[in-house]
Amino acid sequence: MTLDFGGGFFLRRATTADHAALAMICLKTGDAGKDASGREDDPELLGLLYTIPYQVLEPELAFIVDSPAGAAGYLLGAADTGAFNASVASDWYPDLQRRVADPGPDSSRWRGSDWARHRVHHPDFAVPSALTAYPSHGHIDLLPQARGRGIGRRAMEFLGQRLAASGSTGIHLEVMPENDDALRFYEAIGFDVLQDADPPKHRIFVAKRLAHAAEAAG
Ligand SMILES: CC(C)(COP(=O)(O)OP(=O)(O)OC[C@H]1O[C@@H](n2cnc3c(N)ncnc32)[C@H](O)[C@@H]1OP(=O)(O)O)[C@@H](O)C(=O)NCCC(=O)NCCS
Repeated sequence: MTLDFGGGFFLRRATTADHAALAMICLKTGDAGKDASGREDDPELLGLLYTIPYQVLEPELAFIVDSPAGAAGYLLGAADTGAFNASVASDWYPDLQRRVADPGPDSSRWRGSDWARHRVHHPDFAVPSALTAYPSHGHIDLLPQARGRGIGRRAMEFLGQRLAASGSTGIHLEVMPENDDALRFYEAIGFDVLQDADPPKHRIFVAKRLAHAAEAAG
């Protein structure tokens, strides 16, 4: 156990045995924090895109929030976003591209998980310039039974401490613009909201500087 949240909830390192849970939780929170099961026709694909690569490529920062009823969330991090994106591009996407077919560029014809299949074949690994001061990034998604218990706050503090200890100066996360609950959560725990000024994407990020032991002491 890495961190005890009480009530039978705890944080532990994710392993390869957790890949199904990483995919399930990603699907159950994949519609801007809500259940995307009804929208997707490939229940594994969101996990293969957004969660499982973290356990494979950066396992020391991949964690499961466990509960008496099983996996109830995950906390994922990458210390160096540029290096992580390069690894994903070279070591993860080629297999994924062989697994799914490109649905083509006409989004009006996309159905089910076609948007994600298109993303597999046309990934965008560019990091907006506004994030230069926040080289690390993370993901946190909790199932409903794990929410509202202080787990999100403690988990994000834990990730920040781990990243700061490894020398990172800041962390960012991307938030779907329609995910108001998540934006309020990140603001409550001290993150700033950043708009990606680089057109035309209009993505929203939250970001926080990480204090190092020497600075905190000074
Ligand atoms: C967003 C999420 C990670 C928050 O985790 P959580 O464990 O529910 O949040 P916590 O209980 O630790 O709350 C921490 C603080 O945020 C505040 N907060 C959390 N959700 C909030 C909301 N919807 N509106 C306003 N404040 C909120 C809490 O009031 C608390 O403030 P306090 O510590 O000052 O009292 C979790 O609810 C979740 O996984 N949601 C679904 C998936 C998702 O949207 N993930 C984020 C994708 S970017």
